[in-house]
Amino acid sequence: MTVRKVRKAVFPVAGLGTRLLPATKSIPKEMLTIVDRPLIQYAVDEAREAGIEELIFVTGRGKSALVDYFDMSFELEATMEKAGKSLAPLEPSRAGYGEIASVRQQRPLGLGHAVWCARHVVGDEPFAVLLPDDLMIGKPGALKQMIEAYEQVGGNIVCATDVPRDKTASYGIVTPGAASANRTEVLGLVEKPKPEEAPSTLGVIGRYVLQPDVMRVLDAQEPGSGGEIQLTDAMARLIGKQPFHAVTVEATRYDCGTKLGFVSANLALGLADPEIGEALRQVTAGAK
Ligand code: G1P
Repeated sequence: MTVRKVRKAVFPVAGLGTRLLPATKSIPKEMLTIVDRPLIQYAVDEAREAGIEELIFVTGRGKSALVDYFDMSFELEATMEKAGKSLAPLEPSRAGYGEIASVRQQRPLGLGHAVWCARHVVGDEPFAVLLPDDLMIGKPGALKQMIEAYEQVGGNIVCATDVPRDKTASYGIVTPGAASANRTEVLGLVEKPKPEEAPSTLGVIGRYVLQPDVMRVLDAQEPGSGGEIQLTDAMARLIGKQPFHAVTVEATRYDCGTKLGFVSANLALGLADPEIGEALRQVTAGAK
């Protein structure tokens, strides 16, 4: 079995962020900050750590701040330099020439459609998908842990975690097969089943390593759960044709697409921050 290196990552960032309104009315939700950096930077840093060389953003209207963020800020840098300061240590993720591509998803037709919009830039090679809403804090990062598994088994990998039975309708759910170490064979995948219909409580979270064949499946554009074109449905069609595993990673996940997840992430990362952690602990200890 040849396992081709994963060099490209797709970041679907065209979503409207309705669960975080009004903040997201004029700011992309991926630009909201967790402590001192936008959500998108955590995902990009995680991808880079995993060896990703090309970043593909699937954006939409009103999302240009996202792409600009990874550009050089010439005026800001020149001003800071004059004042004897440097922006460089603050932003480790600025893109090198040609490392970022952005494609537009003109209509919100679902995650599968968003990924499909990147098909020409992805081309005929395996790729990762990272949903920046799912902030994953781990060492090494979640995607790196998944790539380590991928290098052993190849094929397709989804990141998975045990979810409460009453929450299965928020996730893609795995029909699990044989398990060894942190890997479980995937025998089936279903998008957002009702608790009583879910084949297990092993839920997919926003990290994927996929073979390019999934794009050919997505060409058919068949709507699934919620009337949207689902990545889960397209992935399900590859099961049995290619190796397919769910990997449980050692990382803490914050669902930053929700108010609770977003504030929890700020609190947890703030408390762990060497600069403000101690002071924040005192503030929270005093909070009633
Ligand atoms: C998407 C996927 C779902 C997955 C989830 C992880 O759903 O469609 O399969 O479990 O991300 O966060 P969304 O949360 O965008 O509705």
